[in-house]
Order: sequence, then C-alpha cells, then structure tokens
Amino acid sequence: MTLLEAAKAVRENAYAPYSRFKVGAALRAVSGTIYAGCNVENVAYPEGTCAEAGAIAAMVAAGETRIIEALVIADSPHPVPPCGGCRQKLAEFAAQDVKVTMCTTDGKARTVTVGDLLPGVFTAAHMDRT
Ligand code: THU
Repeated sequence: MTLLEAAKAVRENAYAPYSRFKVGAALRAVSGTIYAGCNVENVAYPEGTCAEAGAIAAMVAAGETRIIEALVIADSPHPVPPCGGCRQKLAEFAAQDVKVTMCTTDGKARTVTVGDLLPGVFTAAHMDRT
C-alpha cells in the first residue's frame, strides 16, 4: 500500500460532523511500516484531534518514533498544510528534510519538507544551557 492509498482509505473514517472537513494522514516510519490517522472531532471543539496527530499516535503505540515520509489528504481546493500544532508534532519525530506531501482528493499535490513547514523549530537543545 502507498502512503496515498493509506491516507485516502483512513480519511473515509474521519469523524468530522462539525467542520464536515475530513482529513487523512499517513506516515512511513523507519521500519517501512505505514501508520494512518484521521481527524476526530468533538462537540467540545478544542478536544478534536487532527489526522496527523492520530497517525503519530498509532506509530508511537506500535513502538516506532522515526518518520521518514508523510502525506496528508483532504477534499480541498488547494493542498492542505498541517496546522501549527501538527507541524510541531511532526518535527518531534521527523528530521527537517523529511518530505510532507499535501494532497487534494481531486489529484493536486504539493511536497515540502518538515523544515519548510516549521522554520526555527523549538527543540530540546533550546532547553540546554550546558
Ligand atoms: N485538520 C486536520 O486533521 N489536519 C490538518 O492538517 C488540518 C486540519 C482537521 C481538524 C478539524 O477536524 C478539521 O480539519 C477542520 O479544521
């Protein structure tokens, strides 16, 4: 299965009754395994979670922590970029040169890197004065 196929398939399961905006995300971890996630909204709106967060949670639950490729898909006029919080979440588990492909359900795609999405990322090094 490709990242695109996995993200498309999981997007069908998105729970988005409030925004009606279904998102699917798929990550390839260093083992080669693909992990997928969809957005899961909540009537208490801030409690909703993004597709990327779901895919990251699935990867970590399976015992992996290194992303080598990511893809996000939504039914949008233009490829949808991960939100700010998800950029930081991706940067926790992906090197700056890891590619993130943003797709639309009608076939548009744009590929950038994690570093493009979050220049000046906050890292553990910022907490180290030694
Ligand atoms: N959403 C994602 O799941 N990922 C993104 O990259 C952008 C936004 C979700 C959150 C919410 O459920 C819906 O899209 C509308 O913001």
